[in-house]
Amino acid sequence: MASSSDKTPSLPVTKIMILGATGNVGSAILTAFQSHNTHNPHHPFHITVLTRTTSHAKTAAQLPPSSNLQVLAIDTYTNTPTLTTLLQQHNIEVLISTIATFSTNDQEHLISACVASGTVTRFFPSEFGLDTSDRGKVETYLPFAILKQENVDLLRRASLSTNGKLTWTAIITGAFFDWALTIPGLFAMHIPDMTAGVIDGGDIKYEATNMAQIGRAVVACLTSQSRFDETANQYVNINSFTTTQNEVIALIEKYTGRSMTRSPISAKELSESALATIERDGGIEACRAYQPTPEMPYVPGSTEGIMACLFGGGALGGMNQYSMRENGLWNDRLGLPREDIEETVKSAVERLGMLKA
Ligand SMILES: NC(=O)c1ccc[n+]([C@@H]2O[C@H](COP(=O)([O-])OP(=O)(O)OC[C@H]3O[C@@H](n4cnc5c(N)ncnc54)[C@H](OP(=O)(O)O)[C@@H]3O)[C@@H](O)[C@H]2O)c1
Repeated sequence: MASSSDKTPSLPVTKIMILGATGNVGSAILTAFQSHNTHNPHHPFHITVLTRTTSHAKTAAQLPPSSNLQVLAIDTYTNTPTLTTLLQQHNIEVLISTIATFSTNDQEHLISACVASGTVTRFFPSEFGLDTSDRGKVETYLPFAILKQENVDLLRRASLSTNGKLTWTAIITGAFFDWALTIPGLFAMHIPDMTAGVIDGGDIKYEATNMAQIGRAVVACLTSQSRFDETANQYVNINSFTTTQNEVIALIEKYTGRSMTRSPISAKELSESALATIERDGGIEACRAYQPTPEMPYVPGSTEGIMACLFGGGALGGMNQYSMRENGLWNDRLGLPREDIEETVKSAVERLGMLKA
């Protein structure tokens, strides 16, 4: 007799490759695929993790073990012929790139390899942040994000050149929420010191997504033919919640039982100074050529520029306010669960050992 899991619909694609599964968002996406496999043993994804032989990140042996998971290493992500061969040898249908922010240029070679492979039908470029779909806004407020947009342009052309066989999905998440909360000082929020930089009064609404929700969203795009079709060649905006800096600070104060010291920040001034730093160091061409290291993963000025756009609202293009647009969110279409901001903040404070007695 068939078990209930036998009756789950089969997957439109099963052979996926994750690049960057050793990193921040990639590891959350890997976890989500492994969770799918645990709950759907009759319809698993076959997961290949692609890493570099020179990786500074976790070694393959440190990745969470499971069946249906193999780890392959390549010398560099710019080696198109080797990538093409790997994709063909393993019959990869989906490539999920979560490559680091200032390595997104490498995706040009990955896209070429996907076209040449003839096996890959969906490419997820490394977006996972602000809504970068509007060229004018990106050029004005976050010029280096043009590097991400250029990859989507390449994917659009690749889709045409393969007669629509290769498709793409760009997942837009706003601010990584639970991840950032526990990194002291990130986005000017330092919970251990109970200090926070507050942009333009702190009441500006912004989109925030927990890491597990990002993983669930990527998996959801691939679990039914209708979702696979619906998400083809789309920017797919998701969140865990829409919040404000003041709401987050109030919750931190509630769960630590301590008050936070706030420093006012002007979004416009933060953005202008960030863009001036980037321009001083060579502008977009220097960003394009930047060689990130574990010590200096980001171009100087870029994190401030990102922060201004994440929390600065309409004054900086509203690239992190997509839930306010009609049909701006894909959460329901992807069947994503509602998440609770209070629970998230409480658990972050607990992880920092600061939950009030
Ligand atoms: N919305 C937000 O708040 C937010 C925050 C952070 C990041 N993001 C976005 O999320 C995406 C992924 O970021 P992440 O923080 O998850 O990335 P990450 O952890 O810094 O890096 C991801 C992977 O990229 C590979 N990598 C690192 N340096 C490289 C280099 N110099 N050349 C080639 N590959 C390199 C590494 O994989 P291997 O070592 O295994 O090769 C690494 O594990 C980016 O698009 C980023 O902009 C968004």
